[in-house]
Amino acid sequence: MLMLTIEELALPESIGAPDAGDFIEMVRIRNDIEAYDVGTRDFAVEPEELLAIVSNPYELRRFFLARVDGRIVGRAVYQLQGGLDVPTAWVSVEILPEFRRQGLGSALYTHVHAIALDDGRTAMQAESFHHVPPAEPVIISPTGFGAVSADDAPSRFLVSRGFRLAQVNRVSRLALPSGAQTPEPAAGYDLEAWEGSTPQHRLSDMAVLHARMSTDPPAGEVDWQPETWDEQRVVEHERRRDTDGRRYLTVAARHIESDSLVGFSDLSVPPEVDRPVQQEDTIVLHEHRGHRLGMLLKAANLQRLDELAPGHPAIYTWNAEENRPMLTVNEAVGFVPVAVEASWRNDLN
Ligand SMILES: CC(C)(COP(=O)(O)OP(=O)(O)OC[C@H]1O[C@@H](n2cnc3c(N)ncnc32)[C@H](O)[C@@H]1OP(=O)(O)O)[C@@H](O)C(=O)NCCC(=O)NCCS
Repeated sequence: MLMLTIEELALPESIGAPDAGDFIEMVRIRNDIEAYDVGTRDFAVEPEELLAIVSNPYELRRFFLARVDGRIVGRAVYQLQGGLDVPTAWVSVEILPEFRRQGLGSALYTHVHAIALDDGRTAMQAESFHHVPPAEPVIISPTGFGAVSADDAPSRFLVSRGFRLAQVNRVSRLALPSGAQTPEPAAGYDLEAWEGSTPQHRLSDMAVLHARMSTDPPAGEVDWQPETWDEQRVVEHERRRDTDGRRYLTVAARHIESDSLVGFSDLSVPPEVDRPVQQEDTIVLHEHRGHRLGMLLKAANLQRLDELAPGHPAIYTWNAEENRPMLTVNEAVGFVPVAVEASWRNDLN
């Protein structure tokens, strides 16, 4: 009989703080579990990077550690997209492979499920990683685009707890250097680019673009709430990023007549040259679509990456399987599908 305890993790002030040990161990466990299920350490995070993400006051995150005989063997994450009054809680339950099929995942799930009910959430959502192509039998996304194997452990685990598939995202990889060349912008537009913080005079434009990132990409049947962004939130977001040791390369498309930014794309570059680069947001406002600005932004930032931060093996991006315009751009610059990430939803009422 396993002696299981579940306790909430107290977040440290910094990774150097005397009480940071459990957080650092939790990150190690997170990375080990992911490496087992995904088959690569390409998505591993450093403690500094995760601490920067979890210090976001706009997105509450609580972590719960499962210990067997004092050793951390799994974790659950309980996360709110924005503010405390959102209807949905995102949950993640992760167990080290050698401790699976003994009820630990169920115990952690019961713990976060109770919190969601206590908090009055009306739905829980979860994400899971799957290899491609999916083995039969499959569960097809309600969008009609993408599918996952019904017999994968996370599918079995989540379906038996009342979750249904809400959306399928494609994970794509591009080997570097990309060799991308920036095309000529369409008439009426030009490009601006920076590294790190947004220039002061572009903060309000970036606040609009960040807010639209929460409403414009297709969400399938995922509950994704509109976010409120102002200049202060952009500044705080970038200040947090400054603590994680990574470089952030941004390109933005400017509508010349109005002198406003109408799209942007940013890349997150780790300090270690053997780790892959991560594609962050890419958006072109509806009103300015159809001018090949998506391709312009992508190609321009890839070219900058080749020039400013050469040597990384690859870049990864996540896209909704039904987001044809974005997939078309990514396929054109050479991204190839390597896996899918599924989003699941469990309505609690
Ligand atoms: C999914 C996961 C958390 C399950 O953890 P676990 O400790 O093995 O879960 P439990 O022992 O409580 O299993 C509960 C039920 O899930 C289902 N299940 C879990 N793993 C399964 C597998 N490999 N094959 C088939 N069913 C499985 C079964 O219905 C199981 O009940 P049973 O053992 O009585 O048949 C674990 O596989 C994991 O960490 N995966 C990676 C992270 C992830 O994808 N999490 C899911 C999204 S939140």
